Amino acid sequence: MAGRFEGKVVLITGTAGGQGREAALLFAAEGAKVVGCDLKVDMQAETLEMVKAAGGEMVAMAPLDLADDGQVKAWIDFAVESYGDFDILYNNASGVRGGSIEQLTVEDWDFNMANELTNVFLACKHALPVFKRKGGGNIVITASIAGIVGAGMPGNVQGNLVHNVAKAAVIRLSENLAVELSPYNIRVNAVSPGMIDTPAIKSLLDAGGEDLFFESILIKRRGQPADIAKAAMFLASDDASYITGANLVVDGGWTASGGLGQPNPAVGARLANVMADLTTIPTDV
Ligand SMILES: NC(=O)c1ccc[n+]([C@@H]2O[C@H](COP(=O)([O-])OP(=O)(O)OC[C@H]3O[C@@H](n4cnc5c(N)ncnc54)[C@H](O)[C@@H]3O)[C@@H](O)[C@H]2O)c1
Repeated sequence: MAGRFEGKVVLITGTAGGQGREAALLFAAEGAKVVGCDLKVDMQAETLEMVKAAGGEMVAMAPLDLADDGQVKAWIDFAVESYGDFDILYNNASGVRGGSIEQLTVEDWDFNMANELTNVFLACKHALPVFKRKGGGNIVITASIAGIVGAGMPGNVQGNLVHNVAKAAVIRLSENLAVELSPYNIRVNAVSPGMIDTPAIKSLLDAGGEDLFFESILIKRRGQPADIAKAAMFLASDDASYITGANLVVDGGWTASGGLGQPNPAVGARLANVMADLTTIPTDV
């Protein structure tokens, strides 16, 4: 297979499904050797089959818990044993427990932090010696618009408190690592998905959330795992060689429109009526 990632080795977390599976397929289709991992054994095996059936190269460890320091170290060692020193680390996986402050237990809070933030810290920490040995590297971290607009997102009436906090921290982690690892020729960027059609949110969209969701965005379709995987591939590629410390938002225009979607003619007409009565246009709105 020929492509942008010919001769490159890419590590991707959470490759048993969703965006991670799509990324494994797309990176492999562009020539990368892929090292995956996931908690889910059967679905991870399916991903391996899919990549190999498409003519790609991939190995994976499952079950592997990215919240566990020793297991993350073992995965990094497995990657080096399989394909030698690697080029790219794509931190995609996360595990979430939702809830408001009244609903969340301390255990829930710690679970999210371990599975959304500590997992990324651990993978970056254990990958660093390899990147330093190799003279450079590339890290992509999946954040979320939850880490940008957080509480303002639909769905947060039920509370996504710790998820929003953890994803905001992921964005800060990414920026800090971009600075801290720059002397080692390592670029670090985040990608922030909006609502993406994966098992993680399928039930919400299928239960009638889709119409509301479409009102909140500018591009009127469900975001697809490939939309995020392709953004991550851009950041990991030489096309992005001048980009580090960025957070690439891929959300159909959700954050840009403040979650209001395309201009609402009814609201626009009411505002026009109010403004028609004004003798001067206010400058502070
Ligand atoms: N789907 C969305 O709408 C959406 C929106 C914004 C951000 N995101 C982010 O995108 C990324 C991918 O999400 P997705 O939608 O593909 O979800 P998903 O649930 O389909 O996939 C996540 C994968 O990570 C694995 N995983 C979770 N915790 C793990 C652990 N401790 N060790 C190993 N594997 C673990 C899961 O088993 C799963 O296969 C996540 O970081 C998520 O927070 C998703």
